[in-house]
Parts: sequence; structure tokens; C-alpha cells
Amino acid sequence: MQLLNLTTLDAILDPHDRALTATPPSSRFATAKRSHLAGELRAAHVGAKVILGGWVHRTRNLGGIVFLDLRDRGGLVQVSFDPKWTPADVIGRAGRVGLETVITIEGEVAARPQEMRNPEMETGDIEVRATDFRIVGPADTPAIPVARGRGEKLPAEELRLKHRNLDLRRSDLQRNIILRHRLQQATRRYLDERGFLEIETPILTKPTPEGARDYVVPSRVHPGEFYALPQSPQLYKQLLMISGFDRYFQIARCFRDEDLRADRQPEFTQIDIEASFIEPDDIISLTEGMLGVLFKEAGREIPQHFERLEYAEAMERYGSDRPDVRYALELFDASDAFRGSDFAVTNSVLAGGGRVRGLKVPGGAVLSRKEVDEIEAIAKSAGAGGLIRIKRTASGLEGPAAKFLSETGAERLGLAEGELGLFVAGSDYVTNPALDRVRQHVAQIMSLVPENKDSFLWVTDFPMFIREQNGTLSSVHHPFTAPNPEDLSLLDSKPERARALAYDVVLNGTELGGGSIRINDPALQRRVLGLLGVDESTAKARFGFLLDALSAGAPPHGGIALGFDRISMMLAGATSLRDVIAFPKTTAARALFEDAPSVVPPEDLRELHLQTMTS
Ligand code: AMO
Repeated sequence: MQLLNLTTLDAILDPHDRALTATPPSSRFATAKRSHLAGELRAAHVGAKVILGGWVHRTRNLGGIVFLDLRDRGGLVQVSFDPKWTPADVIGRAGRVGLETVITIEGEVAARPQEMRNPEMETGDIEVRATDFRIVGPADTPAIPVARGRGEKLPAEELRLKHRNLDLRRSDLQRNIILRHRLQQATRRYLDERGFLEIETPILTKPTPEGARDYVVPSRVHPGEFYALPQSPQLYKQLLMISGFDRYFQIARCFRDEDLRADRQPEFTQIDIEASFIEPDDIISLTEGMLGVLFKEAGREIPQHFERLEYAEAMERYGSDRPDVRYALELFDASDAFRGSDFAVTNSVLAGGGRVRGLKVPGGAVLSRKEVDEIEAIAKSAGAGGLIRIKRTASGLEGPAAKFLSETGAERLGLAEGELGLFVAGSDYVTNPALDRVRQHVAQIMSLVPENKDSFLWVTDFPMFIREQNGTLSSVHHPFTAPNPEDLSLLDSKPERARALAYDVVLNGTELGGGSIRINDPALQRRVLGLLGVDESTAKARFGFLLDALSAGAPPHGGIALGFDRISMMLAGATSLRDVIAFPKTTAARALFEDAPSVVPPEDLRELHLQTMTS
């Protein structure tokens, strides 16, 4: 992953700001209380009288002369309090001011003497010589430090989330949140220029099936009834197409009660898009263009068009529908090498219709037993019964399973000297997730993941359904996804073989977004709901409004939703969504700063006609 170089003011200001900083001494940030941002002052401002407002970042009291770094959204500037230009009482007060106090200062921008210049600071060529100083926002001793010395570690994340207002003052987070804003504006510009209308959809709504649990909100005026917070605006955007708006977008907040990970938040933001009279290629090129613009906003060039891979091939070659294709390490079917051997493990799997699949790790023969045991633990945690390991050294094949292979079997395995073969036996349901995890881990430990490379990928032709363990069908995307017209006849005979007109966009193994062409025929929509086990009356109760709307003249339509937090995270070079969301939740879905969720007083519960198990 490329790290974004956003350390300069130029990079954190939008182009409009940049234009203005180029014409000193005026500033678009000027108000009745200040003339400039601290961080925007440059050599060109020398001689300008300025009024600044911000936070005390650092102070140095050299006995008689005080240096103070003043911080605001634009960055830092050094303010000097010196008897040569500052009244004595002002120096006295400045010398006693506590960190993170909000102050205003008046003074004049002066060039620093050559030997005092600081090339590491954007404003390092100048300083502000203070003539006045006021405390406008006193501060208690900060609970966590904002300024950090070189190499100094950040406080624990939990503590930082609890004191988010202080943590947000750090330059990294300021930069990320400002980048996020710029990406949002670039998204709006891009879509507006192409005729997309930004339309808001309800937050208090009915459940939208996207595969997670709903957050529900009790209704006070309708006892015993609940709203659901939207898992996505899916149904509304389709209704907007049916209403004739033709092209819609929304930077939409979505809510999903699911198990959280670093790239998942319970409330998150999508760039949600829908359009009428389109085909998958229209959405694909629109998305490629938009991602190009967003990446450019963060200073990165990406290809105009991305590779495409059909779902079935992605699963076969990588065991995943969102493979990281920055490195090869492809899976292969090793069943024939094991067929006819005396190895009970593989024989029983092969007899049961399963396969032996695996990958070859170049140079992996040198991995220690402990390292391979760790890989096995990963495979097992993803559902594999075990990991078969065979390596080829100068003296031939080695590993507990090697002895079972016939000469032809060994040949079929095709291991080159120095390679380690890692295999999992089982049905594809078992081997895919296990080998996907193995592949990712091996790429890490063998340093196969190239830095500074972005590999975008479209995964297309997803199946409509997957068959669950209990025999029922579930949607791979959501129930409104259109089947590929070529596979309509499979819906009744072999529904799990029917392909959908669905596509996901993947970057370096992370799913950035997904979408599809939708069903616009009410009869087909009923049929698909039926296959998913939704009977007529449930369909009417849950999706009646959509089914009615589809019967009122629905154009062919489709769209996509991109994870906006994920895109921001990748462009900020961050590893957690929490670093690009102003007030995020923990992985336990808690808001530590505002302390939510919290207990509701019994009288409020009564008003909502609710009783908790504890009340
Ligand atoms: P989907 O469920 O694939 O599609 O979501 C689209 C994208 O949203 C992001 N995303 C998340 N980001 C952060 N935290 C989460 N909990 C989370 N869940 C999803 C991912 C994902 O690719 N209505 C369909 C889209 C459509 O068909 O148009 C939908 O919501 O980046």
C-alpha cells in the first residue's frame, strides 16, 4: 500500500485554499477575530501584521524569551515573545500558559535568521513576533498529549477514543479528516457533472436485507412497532429509478449490526449510485472514472480500466471472491497427484467428491516446522481438517505425506527444488476459505506483497445464490439482483448455478464496492423471493411497496455502492477505518467518547412501551 504524502499544507488544503495562500497576505480564513491560519504563513508574508488564533502546541521558556508553537487546522507556526518587540507583561503571561490552551496573538511575520530556520516545518522560514497575547479558551492539563516527540508512541487507542476531541487535534487525524472531506467533494463534483442527482433517503425505515442484523428504533406513537435503520438505501434508490429520477447518488450512512473488524464499522458511509437504462459496463466505467478522480485527489494515478475476473475463476485460482492479485501464488488442483495413493486422508475426500487443492510456495522449503505449523493453524481456523505439506529439496520430496505419493503422483505435483507445497483436502466450501487464508499469510511471511502497487480488479458473474448447510438458498448479493438472462432457465432446475448480473470492485484484496443490475419485472422478483424461501404473504409484508412499484412501470436499472470509509482509509494510508471517521465505534461497537450505547431510564422505556430483561 502506498503511503500518502500529505504532510504539506498544500496537500491538506483544497485547490481553492492553495490559490489564496499563493497571494499573501490575504487569507480566506480571515474573520473578525483573526487574519490568517497559523500554518499558512510563508516567507511571502514577511512584514505582514497578523492576528492568529489556535492552540498552544509546545512552549520553550528560555528565561526572558518565550517560544511558543501555535497550532490550528493549517498547521504550526512559531511565535516568539522577546523583550525587543513584546511588552514584558505579555512575555510573562505567555511563559506561564498551559499546553492546549486556546489563545489569540497579534504580531508581525518576520524571517527567521538563517541558522534558526526549520526545514521540517512548513512555516519554518518565518516566525511571528508577538506584540499581544490573550487566553480565549483556558484548558485543563490534557488527558492525552497532542504534541508528540520524535519516535514517541501514541497512547493506547482506547484512551485516545475516549478523549477523541484531543486525539482529533493530532496532525495525522486532521489530515485524514480533511482528506475525507476533499474526497467527498470530489465525489459530488464527479457525479453531479454526469447528471446524477443527490437525493436523501430515510433513516427511520423498514429492514433492507443486506445480510446483517438490523439496528431497530422503537416507535413511541405506535406501541410495539419498530423502525429499522437502513443497512443501505437499496430499495429507495430503486424506487427513485421507478419514479423517473434516472440517475441518483447519495453519500449515504448505513447501519449494520454485524461482527466488526478493522475494515467494518456498525455505521459507515457508502457512495451509493443507481441509474436507469444501463448495463454493467456503464456502471463499471462510471466507477473506474470516479475512483480515478478520487485517487488523483490523493495524488495517486491508477489505471483507466481494471482487470476483470469471473467469480468462478477467482474462486478456482485464489479461493476468494476478493483476491489480492498483487502477487501470484495461485491455487491449483492437486487431486490427480494424490489419486490412487495410500493416503487415507486424501482418499476419503476424493472418494466423497472433494478435491485436494493447494499452492506452491517458491523458496518455501526453507520455512521452519514452527512456521509451517502456524500456517496449518490458520488453515484449521478457517475450517480445514489439516494442512498437507510436501517440499522438494536437493534430496527429493520431503514431508509426512510424501511417502504416499507414487512416482507419477510426485511428478504430477510438479514441485520444483526449493518449493513447498501446501494442500488442503475437502469440498470447495472447505478448501476455498482455508487456502485463501493460507495464501494471504504465506504472501506476508515470504514478503511477496509488493509495496507501492495497487491492483484493482472487477469480480463479475457472481452466482445468484449459495446453498446453505441446511439446504436453503441465500442471496450472494441481495434479493433484488437480476439473474443473467442466459441462466434464467436454471432458476428452477439448478438455482445455485445461475449467474447474477453482479460485480464487485476489489483493491489489493479489499472489497471496495459491489453492485448489480436489478430485477425490474415484478413476476421475476416474486420468483426470486420465492426461491429464497420468502412466501407470498411475507413478500407482501416486507417488500410489498417495491413489488407494487415494479408493477407501475419500472425501467431497467442498476447501480453500485462503494465503501467510502474504506476508500478514505486506503487513500490516507491508514490501517483502520477508525482513523478516517471523526467519531468511530470500537470493535465492540461502543462509542467511548460519548459513551454509547447507554442505559435508558425506566420512565423513558415505559413511554416507548418497552421493558428490558434487566428493568
Ligand atoms: P454491499 O453490502 O456490498 O452492497 O456494501 C457496499 C460496500 O460498502 C462497504 N461496507 C462497509 N464498510 C464499512 N463497514 C461496514 N460494516 C461495511 N459493510 C459494507 C464495502 C462494500 O463493498 N446495496 C448494495 C449495493 C448495490 O447493490 O448497489 C450494498 O449495500 O466496501
